[in-house]
Amino acid sequence: MKIFAYGIREDEQPSLKKWETAHPDVEVGFTDYTLTADSAHLAEGSNGVVTLQTSPYTRDALEVLHQLGIKYISIRNVGFDNFKFQDLNELDFTLTNVPVYSPNAIAEHAVILMGRLLRRVPEFDQKMDNGDFTWSPTIGKEYREQTVGVVGTGHIGRVVIQILQGFGAKVVAYDVFHNPDIEKQGLYVDSLEELYKKADIITLHVPLFDSNKHMINDDSIAQMKDGVYIINCARGELVDTDALIKGLDSGKIAGAGLDVLDDENSVFGKVWSSRENIPNEKIRNLAKRLNVIITPHSAFYTETAIHNMITTSFDSNLALIEGEKPQNIVDTNK
Ligand code: COI
Repeated sequence: MKIFAYGIREDEQPSLKKWETAHPDVEVGFTDYTLTADSAHLAEGSNGVVTLQTSPYTRDALEVLHQLGIKYISIRNVGFDNFKFQDLNELDFTLTNVPVYSPNAIAEHAVILMGRLLRRVPEFDQKMDNGDFTWSPTIGKEYREQTVGVVGTGHIGRVVIQILQGFGAKVVAYDVFHNPDIEKQGLYVDSLEELYKKADIITLHVPLFDSNKHMINDDSIAQMKDGVYIINCARGELVDTDALIKGLDSGKIAGAGLDVLDDENSVFGKVWSSRENIPNEKIRNLAKRLNVIITPHSAFYTETAIHNMITTSFDSNLALIEGEKPQNIVDTNK
């Protein structure tokens, strides 16, 4: 029995070695290449594939896997928006994801982005670079004075709420599915419009669907409070970058913390030496602002998360190969 893994990085290899040692009957092959039409043939002779990438899984790549007789794909991450379900169904693939590898990793990152914006850390950093040890004009705001609008109360959104409550922030939340615990606390508002009206900070923790692409746009921003902060550690396509830039230019938006960006693959994962050299004009525009903090889709990137991503994805792939139905099979018929 063989499982082949794509996009394996050095930091994943210790957990991968541990998994291999615990499963001596499974041969594991891997490459640091992502899964593309050019690299798909590397999985020849394997029963299943484990993969992680933020770029699209193309039809061509999936067709090569199909021709190799592979039926099982297990992603090491949560989001499967870079697959076309039609391709998976037509080529008879079963897909698993890792729905809960570490909600805390992403939740902590989101709350840290808020804190860095509220306490104007990038401006202080720049002052320190210039040997400027003064206070003014970089006066901050406290969490306990903020109402934070949490959009999405799944695993990540709920940890965000817990952490924020520890800081004394007021929370309002929106989700189409109500979590009983959040409901009991009376945190839900009835509509996004209501959340936009009430929140000083808006943080996104929803998956990307066709229906919510660019949910943060000119219209939604117009409904928000003046001086709102926007945090996105979910998917770049949730935010219309043009609208965000307009909002920052006008001062309607006081700042943004962005771990993900529309078109991030044109920039993330590479070294550009300086902000001026960033080749994507919109991302360069954002990156040059002191009230915008960009991180390279790294909210997930903790030791705990990496270990769980490897272990769960390989466990799930093996379960599929052995004819089981793990709970984390993605429903591609939706
Ligand atoms: C996810 O788990 O979906 C993420 O966004 C993490 C990233 C490595 C793809």
